Amino acid sequence: MQTITVQAPGRINLIGEHTDYNNGFVLPAAIQNVATATISKRANDQIHLKALDLSEELIINSIAELQVSEKTWANYIIGVIVQFVKKQKFPTGFDIVLKSNVPIGAGLSSSAAIECAVAFGLNELFGFKLDKMELALMAQKAEHEFAGVQCGIMDQFASLFGKKDNVVLLDCQNMEYQYFPLNIKDYQIVLLDTGVKHALASSEYNTRRAECEQGIQLIQEKHAHIQSLREATIHMLDECVDKNTLPIIYNRCKYVIAEIERTQAATLDLLANNLNAFGQKMFATHKGLSELYQVSFPELDLIVNAVSANENVLGARMMGGGFGGCTINIIKTAMVETVVNELTQLYATKTGKALQHYIVSIEDGAKLL
Ligand code: GLA
Repeated sequence: MQTITVQAPGRINLIGEHTDYNNGFVLPAAIQNVATATISKRANDQIHLKALDLSEELIINSIAELQVSEKTWANYIIGVIVQFVKKQKFPTGFDIVLKSNVPIGAGLSSSAAIECAVAFGLNELFGFKLDKMELALMAQKAEHEFAGVQCGIMDQFASLFGKKDNVVLLDCQNMEYQYFPLNIKDYQIVLLDTGVKHALASSEYNTRRAECEQGIQLIQEKHAHIQSLREATIHMLDECVDKNTLPIIYNRCKYVIAEIERTQAATLDLLANNLNAFGQKMFATHKGLSELYQVSFPELDLIVNAVSANENVLGARMMGGGFGGCTINIIKTAMVETVVNELTQLYATKTGKALQHYIVSIEDGAKLL
């Protein structure tokens, strides 16, 4: 096999935000939007990268010359190739031609989709036989080392492990996972895209991660065995982090500890078909992300608050890392058009901007085409 084409999707996350790097739970699913990579072996040692959507190319003269590029898009790919080089020997160079219809900056993990398409594709083409969990970890490393975001594992995991019509509960402490069919009958998942992407998103993300680590260190002073906020309780937090002198650390940890519990409880709601209770937990997550974790944005708050008392919307919250992007909403199918029209008008009036919406269908993770 000299040429293959693979695809890897973006993701949604129903609940469990900023919990992955705290060893908690997440409940993501892969979606219909995908990055597609066509990868071919070359007769020499060169690597040719092409981003069809941007009409840009990058030629790397040899595998030995892989380094950070000035082209942002190329770094997601180079970052993954470098992870392979650490483990495997490429017998030849290769061409990668990429395109993607995952909206960029919308919080749908367009970068994970690219990383996972490249990781999955190189593994297939060269027969490296790495398993999907290894590929997810390599794609995550690429993001750490070449995009400068100290992300958790959720996005790359979802892009590789997604399953049609299922959500997947991932325990980020031991990487065990379970699929659940998403049975929301008369409702649809609708994403509302604010079109806002704040430049500070990645540095603020890394700051949140560091704040959680500071919280753990303080808890460890009294409870040496605690390794992560997953194992911590609100009681330990109250005992070890003074909310008056360290309000930021306190609030970050308070949100995470609550969100880890909420995600477990919300999964039980889903299994019991109690969509109302599930939706209420989504609103509670948004409040925590906005007030305690402070990763929301006025535009996101506006469109979540606008539906909080709407009987046709079971739940809504900002989704992903924050500082822009989408909200995820569970809306009665028959009322989707009405609700979306109302919000689009409200958004235009209040912000002067256009609100995009996407109706989600849950699809399989990375695959060979
Ligand atoms: C980004 C990161 C994920 C996760 C979310 C927040 O999408 O890549 O690892 O931390 O933010 O839940």
